[in-house]
Amino acid sequence: MTTRPPDRPSEHRRVLYGRRRGRPLHRGQQALVETLLPRLAVTLPAAGTLDPATLFDPRPDEVWLEIGFGSGEHLAAFENGVAKLLADVQRRALANVRILTDDARLLIAALPSASIGRVFILFPDPWPKQRHHKRRIVAGETLAALAAIMTDGAELRLATDDLDYLAWMLARVPAHPAFAWLADRPSDWRVRPTDWPATRYEAKAIAAGRRPYFLRFRRRAR
Ligand SMILES: C[S@@+](CC[C@H](N)C(=O)[O-])C[C@H]1O[C@@H](n2cnc3c(N)ncnc32)[C@H](O)[C@@H]1O
Repeated sequence: MTTRPPDRPSEHRRVLYGRRRGRPLHRGQQALVETLLPRLAVTLPAAGTLDPATLFDPRPDEVWLEIGFGSGEHLAAFENGVAKLLADVQRRALANVRILTDDARLLIAALPSASIGRVFILFPDPWPKQRHHKRRIVAGETLAALAAIMTDGAELRLATDDLDYLAWMLARVPAHPAFAWLADRPSDWRVRPTDWPATRYEAKAIAAGRRPYFLRFRRRAR
């Protein structure tokens, strides 16, 4: 069992995750990628598992995983998103962030069972075309892998502004034996919880007239 982390988000232990290159970086961003990123970058083991708590000193009680943070709605902006995150890490002297600049599923596959206390997948790409639905990250294989790496009682937080993806998520996650939906009333999923920071993508969705939805699931006890 792990204990809950302190309440301030900056103290939460998180592994953040990104990929892909975007526009050329400004000089300051490039410097951060060259100097700070190597200190925060997660190296996947060639074989075996990676205990995520060993990435931090002192060893944390709980590690949280965010899959697919970005600076915008385009995949191409992703490395710029990493650079923005690095600037934040430096400005706020955060000691509890580690970054993998590759496909999150590689990291999930390398994590040991019951090693992550919270998982965030915020506004994952909706892949609206039917023939691309198989690319959606919230699906059977990833859900099974997440169920394995999450501790009992850990929370999975999903956000989307796409009604079709919302229905897709609600057809799959609560149906999975490991996950229970934490919603009693419509406001539980129509209003962002107060301890859930807004993302840039959410602001863009609202500005474009789309409504964001927020889903919280508890990993059931094994
Ligand atoms: C629409 S953006 C949302 C970004 C951010 N979560 C937000 O709310 O502002 C989706 C992000 O997920 C990332 N992504 C998609 N598939 C991924 C994968 N398999 N592993 C890691 N990141 C992924 C994309 O690069 C993109 O930055």
